[in-house]
Amino acid sequence: MSAQRKTNTLVIEGGHPLRGAVSVSGSKNATLGAMAAALLVSEECVLKNVPDIGDVEQMAQVLRSIGASVDWAGPHVLRINAAKLHSSSPATELAGSLRGSFLVMGALLGRLGEASCPQPGGDVIGQRPIDVHLAGFAAMGCRLGREGEKYVVESDGLKGARIFADYPSVLGTQNLMLAAATARGTTTIVNGAAEPEVQGLAAMLNSMGARITGVGSHTITVEGVQALHGTRHRIIPDRLEAGTFAIAAAVTNGRAEIRGVELNHLFSLIAKMREAGVMVEEAGDKLRVWREGELRAVTIQALPYPGLATDLQAPMAVLLSQARGVSYVHERVFENRLLYTGELRKMGAEVVTTGTTTAIISGPTPLIGSSVRALDVRAGAALILAGLAASGRTEIADVYHVDRGYERIGGKLRGLGAVIERV
Ligand code: EPU
Repeated sequence: MSAQRKTNTLVIEGGHPLRGAVSVSGSKNATLGAMAAALLVSEECVLKNVPDIGDVEQMAQVLRSIGASVDWAGPHVLRINAAKLHSSSPATELAGSLRGSFLVMGALLGRLGEASCPQPGGDVIGQRPIDVHLAGFAAMGCRLGREGEKYVVESDGLKGARIFADYPSVLGTQNLMLAAATARGTTTIVNGAAEPEVQGLAAMLNSMGARITGVGSHTITVEGVQALHGTRHRIIPDRLEAGTFAIAAAVTNGRAEIRGVELNHLFSLIAKMREAGVMVEEAGDKLRVWREGELRAVTIQALPYPGLATDLQAPMAVLLSQARGVSYVHERVFENRLLYTGELRKMGAEVVTTGTTTAIISGPTPLIGSSVRALDVRAGAALILAGLAASGRTEIADVYHVDRGYERIGGKLRGLGAVIERV
């Protein structure tokens, strides 16, 4: 990503109800897992429905830094060939600032028996330890060490194991699935993550010849196979982008159809939006969202799947600033994901936090266009929603965060009638 992009600002003229239809892109987080999975084989893997976003470009660079070729074979089609890997250690400056890059550990362990990576960075939303990943690798017989800032993991042949994950970590579960796919024997991940992105990775690995069952539950079984092969795999729709557009339609008092969604993945969001008084119609792979009358205050809790996604906690808080009464927002996944509330206050929201995991919102309060800053990808998306609902002009700095996770967000919103431009 260029320095130019990093200084980007979005300017929104608020107060226009969003109307029309918008299509969702493929899932960012499912794509990062799929890209790592391609490292497991020397044959080509072709990924379809890949979003054209900053994090995918950075993950491509991470893969290239160890010798994989990664090319766009067409719009949203990524071709990865890891036949000639020359290293088990991706470039520190690339891997260190992308959380999802740590998935190369599990894949490289499976492929080469060794891997090293820096402590993965990512958004400032909590401490984000990696103990679940490392404990799982150790249980599979790996030696763990440190070389400077890198974690080094080596094995003389991965062995299947019964692993208890202290927390149902999404990337942790994916990393262990990647390593276990070709391990000797069976691996069981107890208290694994059930998120759709984990299910998406299992579907890809199974299409490569792996034997993974139990995904979608918290006990995942991986029967190790001798070898995997290349595949063509379609990335699942981005439930977080879909949710962001659904909330955008509701918060602007608009009416929108969000196309290409997987409704099952959005069940918790739909339930909470309805409870808050938003009209939601489910139709195949479409979600129709509109408002009839006032919104009601509700309590939301961000939890592991199938609970409400932590990534939709900030966008939902913007919606609740327009609801009558006192809403409680509990963030139960990350310990520091309410920093955006300070920016929302600048825009007129009545929101206070108690500690770092609960926000109390009194509404409805009119939002007023202001100058604010995107702190991370989802907090940035939430501020865009606030800007769309606000009167007057909102300037959002540092929108490169949003570009990491949302494809053409300005263009897609303009298609729904938003007045939004990049300066
Ligand atoms: N945790 C541990 N130990 C670990 C790993 C995690 O205690 O070894 C704890 C964390 O401290 C946190 C909780 O587990 O409290 C959840 O972390 P998790 O590991 O599940 O998150 P992640 O895998 O690092 C992915 C997504 C996030 C998303 C979370 C939760 C990717 C690249 N990132 O992160 O997405 O919020 O799962 O669903 O898949 C985003 O897209 O904006 C984003 C941040």
